[in-house]
Amino acid sequence: MTIDKKTDRAQFATKLGVIATTVGSAVGLGNIWRFPYEAGSNGGGAFMLCYIFFIFVIGVPVICAEFMMGRGTRSNILGAYRKLSPNGKWYIAGYMGILASVVILSFYSVVAGWTLEYFTQSLLGGMEMSSASEYHEEFSNFSTDGVRPVVWTIVFLVVNYVILARGVTKGIEKMSNILMPLLFLLLLIFCINSLTLDKASAGLAFLFHPDFSKITPGMLLSAMGQAFFSLSLGLGCMTTYASYFSDKTRLGRSAVITAGLDTLVAMLAGVIIFPAVFSFGMSPQAGPTLVFEVLPAIFHSLPGGMVWSSLFFFLLVLASLTSTISMSEISIAFMVEEKGMKRRTATHVNTLIAMVFGTLCALSFGPLADVRIFGMTFFNAFDYLSSNILLPLGGMIASVFVGWFVDRKFIREQMTDSGTIRFRALGLIVFCLRYIAPTGIALVFLNSIGVL
Ligand code: PHE
Repeated sequence: MTIDKKTDRAQFATKLGVIATTVGSAVGLGNIWRFPYEAGSNGGGAFMLCYIFFIFVIGVPVICAEFMMGRGTRSNILGAYRKLSPNGKWYIAGYMGILASVVILSFYSVVAGWTLEYFTQSLLGGMEMSSASEYHEEFSNFSTDGVRPVVWTIVFLVVNYVILARGVTKGIEKMSNILMPLLFLLLLIFCINSLTLDKASAGLAFLFHPDFSKITPGMLLSAMGQAFFSLSLGLGCMTTYASYFSDKTRLGRSAVITAGLDTLVAMLAGVIIFPAVFSFGMSPQAGPTLVFEVLPAIFHSLPGGMVWSSLFFFLLVLASLTSTISMSEISIAFMVEEKGMKRRTATHVNTLIAMVFGTLCALSFGPLADVRIFGMTFFNAFDYLSSNILLPLGGMIASVFVGWFVDRKFIREQMTDSGTIRFRALGLIVFCLRYIAPTGIALVFLNSIGVL
């Protein structure tokens, strides 16, 4: 992606750029950190099944809706609602998306900061320990520390800032074109390794054999939240990116490729983590800290472990950056286009807010562990509010908006590239946007608050 000097808007140069950036946004800590911990805390197989259902039945149509809104209006999320419905109140959903983007950036940077710590420790040899329980202790010492997690969160946000403010997204994109396939390759290698562990079959059974008694209202809400989070969906991220697509980008195909690759990476992460969890005698229900305790133990068991470890955590930082750049772009595009701010100023504002909230989230594992919002720490509350509430709600509004209120001609034009390609699934997408996605999301919401 480059920044157009005249309009101050970013643009994608190539077709590959489109897929690379949307997949770059989708693939990140959501797949490698959040998916395994959510699946682990919610019963494994049943969660996985519901998650995949939400990705393809609700996620793909809603990505199409966001793509149409973005490319059709060439605007940020707020502008997109305003242009398509000048007199309506739909734009309020745009503000909700912007809020969600800042909330996510705050806690996401904390986890990216943990990744930075683990990367440097792997390089410096600080990760050589002898048993899985030592890795557990090491992580809890680190995360409860009042200083180091905060410093790393800020360092990560500064790197994110520099990339955004200098408009060097192109460089990062080129780099990730090489490094992302490398991350994929590493994941495959670790998968094979995990499959050779002695309790591998227990791990795989946990992940792939659904125990239907585990399907509860709370679990359905978590699986839906995870699908939205992992697809960067429901907050205008895909709308903002699609506003930089060319007129020839095939929206339907891009949506399916993005969802497919994103799901594949999450599954690989699951296949790496769960055999190891069972083989090393750990608990799948550890929560947000799970992956940071299991992965080092896996690397430790490999020959040349610290080399694998450094490489992996480095690539994970990069995958996180391509995601945080995309979430920052939502509010930056809004501030520049709607509020007339300079790109640099907008980037400052975005970063400073995330630094303040990020610090609160970073401290919520240690000094601020007792400060609770609705019974949750800052970190958990931010995560819950954005993933389980704001994103599905944003997705529901986008699907109702595009399905019911936007002109059918606009939809057809967007999905067929103004009639130049055939798009057979048009009727199906519209049906999902009108009926399936909104009712599905509403049912899960009502169910989770006990109304159904
Ligand atoms: N989808 C990203 C991930 O899986 C996180 C993200 C959420 C990015 C929302 C942008 C917007 O890591």
